Amino acid sequence: DKGGHKHFMAKEINEQPTVIAEAIRCYLPTGSNSVTLEGVDLDFRNVERLTMVACGTAYYACLTAKYWFEQLAGLPVEVDVASEFRYREPPMPAKSMALFVSQSGETADTLAALRYCTGKVDGILSVVNAAESSIARESDIALPIHAGVEIGVASTKAFTCQLTVLLILALKAASDRGTMDEAQIADHVAALRGLPSALNTALEQSEAIRRAALRLSEARDVLFLGRGIMYPLAMEGALKLKEISYIHAEGYPAGELKHGPIALIDKNMPVVFMTPTDALFDKTMSNMQEVMARKGKVLMISDAAGLSAGGNDLWNSIAMPEIHASLTPILYALPAQLLAYHTAVAKGTDVDQPRNLAKSVTVE
Ligand code: F6R
Repeated sequence: DKGGHKHFMAKEINEQPTVIAEAIRCYLPTGSNSVTLEGVDLDFRNVERLTMVACGTAYYACLTAKYWFEQLAGLPVEVDVASEFRYREPPMPAKSMALFVSQSGETADTLAALRYCTGKVDGILSVVNAAESSIARESDIALPIHAGVEIGVASTKAFTCQLTVLLILALKAASDRGTMDEAQIADHVAALRGLPSALNTALEQSEAIRRAALRLSEARDVLFLGRGIMYPLAMEGALKLKEISYIHAEGYPAGELKHGPIALIDKNMPVVFMTPTDALFDKTMSNMQEVMARKGKVLMISDAAGLSAGGNDLWNSIAMPEIHASLTPILYALPAQLLAYHTAVAKGTDVDQPRNLAKSVTVE
């Protein structure tokens, strides 16, 4: 049942405010300003390193969470794609914890990476959608994301629910390790409780995004740029677009532009900037000027202040509500998903069943 939508992907994109509210309700009971995770036997106090491993979109969720664990909890984090990690067989130092992220809980490479870590680390955590899966069963602690069944092959609501649970875990780590005080934690918890309403506001941009997508659908290649915590989302935006619209896309850290990809910029090249007005905004703006100076087509996704700084020469823009700095990757995932979705619909590709892809990759 597509719930009145043309595709499961559209339905699942639109479900995000509801499922994320549910995930928040499960991990942060109403009325509490702290992150205690009752019933979860987890303590980050003596952890000296966290290793996160996953594939595809779940890997980008890990890369995003690295910023949270490092910045909020002062915890060193290593992130790897499972197919590399498992064959590299890296040494695992003492006082390490390993965390595996998987929607299906059955991805062969991620499961093999988990098995490699068994017995070598102090704890195996997983963040899964399928609570009855192999990855959940073989973990010491499996944390469900409460996204509900995801049918569209391209992951949407699972990604943002993974991010939500990972942020809550990072707050738990910050609380255990004393890197944030009660007021700072309460500030993040309050911001999280406001997230579903901001996500609804983002969904209202669907029609504006559809118009931008009509123009994007004519491109051969698209570049996605972001800095800091928006860099992994740039890669996720590019992955979504290539998966379902078959347009070649790449995500890059904006600061890498002049180290290579700027050679691609000409009047035919759309460049999507994921740029909330955060601490790195001015740096990203100067990269945007470099793209504009070479006649690249800039599609800017930002808040009102950011778009006004973006000026009148933008090829296209998508407005997002203002939000707490830690939550921008979750909020900005929605326009990235909608952009891929509407572009694929404009091109007439099979949105829910893209060619050559499977929902669950249980073989290598
Ligand atoms: C992309 C996508 C894939 C999966 C990847 C991992 O939209 O869906 O990249 O994220 O195959 O799958 P899980 O999360 O089931 O381990």
